[in-house]
Amino acid sequence: MRVLGIETSCDETGVALYEAGVGIRAERLASQIQLHAAYGGVVPELASRDHIAKLLPMVETVLADAQVDLGGLDAIAYTAGPGLIGALMVGGSLASALAYALKVPAIPVHHLEGHILACMLEEPAPEFPFLALMVSGGHSQLIEVLGLGRYRIVGETLDDAAGEAFDKVARLLGLPYPGGPELAALAERGDPRRFALPRPLKNQGLDLSFSGLKTAARLAIDACRGADGGLPDPARADVAASFQAAVVDTLTGKCRQALAATGLTKLVVAGGVGANRALRASLAELGRQVGARVYYPKPALCTDNGAMIAYAGWCRRAEGADKPRIVARPRWPLDELRPPP
Ligand code: KG4
Ligand code: ZN
Repeated sequence: MRVLGIETSCDETGVALYEAGVGIRAERLASQIQLHAAYGGVVPELASRDHIAKLLPMVETVLADAQVDLGGLDAIAYTAGPGLIGALMVGGSLASALAYALKVPAIPVHHLEGHILACMLEEPAPEFPFLALMVSGGHSQLIEVLGLGRYRIVGETLDDAAGEAFDKVARLLGLPYPGGPELAALAERGDPRRFALPRPLKNQGLDLSFSGLKTAARLAIDACRGADGGLPDPARADVAASFQAAVVDTLTGKCRQALAATGLTKLVVAGGVGANRALRASLAELGRQVGARVYYPKPALCTDNGAMIAYAGWCRRAEGADKPRIVARPRWPLDELRPPP
């Protein structure tokens, strides 16, 4: 069975072809970083327009790369939410129209389920149940994953998502959008002990909070500004390193607590912040300490991509709509999902 996957929930256009028993046959990703950089963040209207311009040619390229023609597709999966409504509608409309014309099912996929399942495309793939640390630009959650569609959120952020905090502090440091990877690169040459930033909600349950940490980073930045208002270089890198260390420590501590509370022995890292090297190293060390196995997909499978949507669509192949319909849900709580019939 071959499933085409389409991701357009935010600022990346992703298309991939998954074939059961083979894996990802071809995939393409178009980033909109250049487009939004001038505005310091994603402009929803521009995101939709760019998806419109890129999507269909990318579908053609992926099919050509895989040497599969349209008739060789058995289902079309697309991100139906959560995400930007206009952006979701581009992917949903194209996927549904293609599926309708080809008389194959269109499968609406939950973006976060895609992130959770991305690790299944790697070797070795984890078996259920496991704990998932979902850290993306819009979400920060600890999820007990009991099986496909069986998700229990055991902790989540009370305010900003981890990726959002990275992006906001990066902006304060004068780094271009999207700040997360830029801040991480700057942190490599900074001193993580120079600024004692808070570890929010430490030992206080499994919920997370990043807005106080962001404010503490802002105060540290303001205190280091020179007479001209600029931030001298060692201080910039030191704030970046201290902030990253605070996020990494916090997430590692919460994972430690969540593993203990749930009794799970596998930890899966999902979402864009999962690409962070310091976080990956810290979670690997946690795994060694507590005897848990840690799985993180390669960085390209942590950030948004079409492969995870194609694969999640295959997992939900029994759910293709019997009547033509387009699903686009900007808000869609993960724990509303159920196992496939
Ligand atoms: O999962 P994702 O690609 O998109 C969403 O679904 O939100 O996550 C994007 C987020 C952004 O906030 C980005 O800055 C962050 O992940 N990110 C990183 C790194 N790479 C991406 N944050 C820290 N370190 C990184 N290396
Ligand atoms: Zn995402």
